[in-house]
Amino acid sequence: MCGIIGYVGGDEVVPVLLDGLRRLEYRGYDSAGMAVLEGGAVRVLRAAGKLANLEQRAYQEPLHGTVGLGHTRWATHGAPTEANAHPQTDAAGSVAVVHNGILENYAALRAELAAAGCRLRSDTDTELIAQLLGAAAGSLLERVLATLPRLVGQYAVVAVRREEPDTVVAFRNGPPLVVGLGDGENLVASDVTALLHRTRRVLFLENGDVAVVRRDGVRVVRGDGSAAARPVEVLDWDAARAEKGGYRHFMLKEIHEQPDAIRNTVLAYLDTARHGVNLEGLGLAPDELARLRRLHLVACGTSWHAALVGKFMIEELTGLPVEVDYASEYRYRRPLIGDDLLVVGITQSGETADTLAAMELARDGGAQLATICNSRGSSAWRLARSRLLTQAGPEIGVASTKAFTTQLVALLSMALGLREALGRADHRDAELVAELQRLPLALEQALAIDPARYELGCELLSGSADSLYLGRGILYPIALEGALKLKEISYLHAEGYPAGEMKHGPIALLQEGFPVVAVVPDGPSRDKLLGNLMEVRARGAAVLAVTAGDGADLAHVADLVLPVPRVDPLLQPVVAVLPLQLLAYQVAVALGLDVDQPRNLAKSVTVE
Ligand code: F6R
Repeated sequence: MCGIIGYVGGDEVVPVLLDGLRRLEYRGYDSAGMAVLEGGAVRVLRAAGKLANLEQRAYQEPLHGTVGLGHTRWATHGAPTEANAHPQTDAAGSVAVVHNGILENYAALRAELAAAGCRLRSDTDTELIAQLLGAAAGSLLERVLATLPRLVGQYAVVAVRREEPDTVVAFRNGPPLVVGLGDGENLVASDVTALLHRTRRVLFLENGDVAVVRRDGVRVVRGDGSAAARPVEVLDWDAARAEKGGYRHFMLKEIHEQPDAIRNTVLAYLDTARHGVNLEGLGLAPDELARLRRLHLVACGTSWHAALVGKFMIEELTGLPVEVDYASEYRYRRPLIGDDLLVVGITQSGETADTLAAMELARDGGAQLATICNSRGSSAWRLARSRLLTQAGPEIGVASTKAFTTQLVALLSMALGLREALGRADHRDAELVAELQRLPLALEQALAIDPARYELGCELLSGSADSLYLGRGILYPIALEGALKLKEISYLHAEGYPAGEMKHGPIALLQEGFPVVAVVPDGPSRDKLLGNLMEVRARGAAVLAVTAGDGADLAHVADLVLPVPRVDPLLQPVVAVLPLQLLAYQVAVALGLDVDQPRNLAKSVTVE
């Protein structure tokens, strides 16, 4: 969702900005723009639609300078038109502003500015910030400090002013901003992936920080003007991990990176010498553990599916009851929060607005707060006291794949860690640790399925406007996740359902050739699910089955079997989701769709 890049240095700024914006494209956007300080003026170029349109404009109307801002906008206030694209400027054309987030006092500010005779040229809340900065007095920093109390809501803003051609000022409340410290240049961005190719030395701005970024240094102050020291961190992500590396799409690359991502995540948590989990990351004190009676897992989208799997893992291994909530529901439903509760915010980006709000609610209610997160330094990371970092590396494809499977591994590790700390460990723990260590190999085997095997599945799914994904038990969330993957990137409707519920309504959908994807469990519920599939077949629908082992017993109920290696049932979801990711990918490719940047979606949902 919206991307920001700002640059002050010695290089021509337009290629730097376009390059940064290209690296932010994955976040999802519908217009783009940039502002360059050129010869005592602020020059702005904007274009609706894809970045290529802005590049075309930059080619036709070249801008030159070494200081500037760029933005990709995901429309909130106002349609995705050129007029509403960022940067927005003040009436005098002196100040240019890019902005991620939403101003909640938009209507009041707009009315006030209009009453004061200001002719607004866009529908955006961002223009209001530019106008307020333009109307204030003093340096850009002084103007920002004077304007901050007027802004209510969520914002990450970066601004330039023509009278200060060596300065970029950045400030935030909500959406993230990170400053990159380069060699003879400094940058600011909404996301580290925009900086990685120029520097790995960064400092993360806190809410309420204002950073004055110049070529020779960066100064951070608080809203009252007092100095703030922010630690410089060196990121261990390398730029190559945010490139396609020979794959046709980021999503395909990221699907194939899962064995390594899981290996790295497992290595980060396991104490192999004693066949246990290293609980340091969770960091709960003995008295906190003694008080712990229950857990709430809060998340959105794919991360919520991980939470559903986590409930099975944690309840089975610790005996503690777990509730799973959509963060957007949790924050408004008055959950029962207390100091006997551990709330875990599961979020790949660490910036999802609803998840952060749910976590804040839990913290304010006195619960212990943990996060499973793929982004060190993100808002969720800084909010939680206990943190488990997933080692997926940058995930660029909008449809989450490797972030999801590493979340599952983190959840199992968390369950094992809690189990040990609660004194419940037994021989099963060492077995699960060994399984975790074998898991990357199982994933490699699952990914080695001959792509030709997917052809029939791809044909059936792409030829039908609807499909049903069925699962049971710990594999039911995998059915939900498979359906979500298909919806997101192929725009075909798919519904995930617990197989036992099919009779209670969705069975009415079944007819000749209707595709039903089943994630078939081992154990007692296998026969139950096979019974459900017989009912599907009896109505002429087509069955695609993902199963552990060779699936010989499915031959009479399935049109296509996608076999995956058999692992411990608690880890089977990690393996079973892979064919569903690949299936969704192949359907989207077959339909000629933009796999990495599906329509309307944003990688990081920083607004409610
Ligand atoms: C789906 C997907 C989204 C995210 C959701 C939460 O492929 O990526 O459903 O899972 O927006 O995002 P995070 O995990 O960053 O909080």
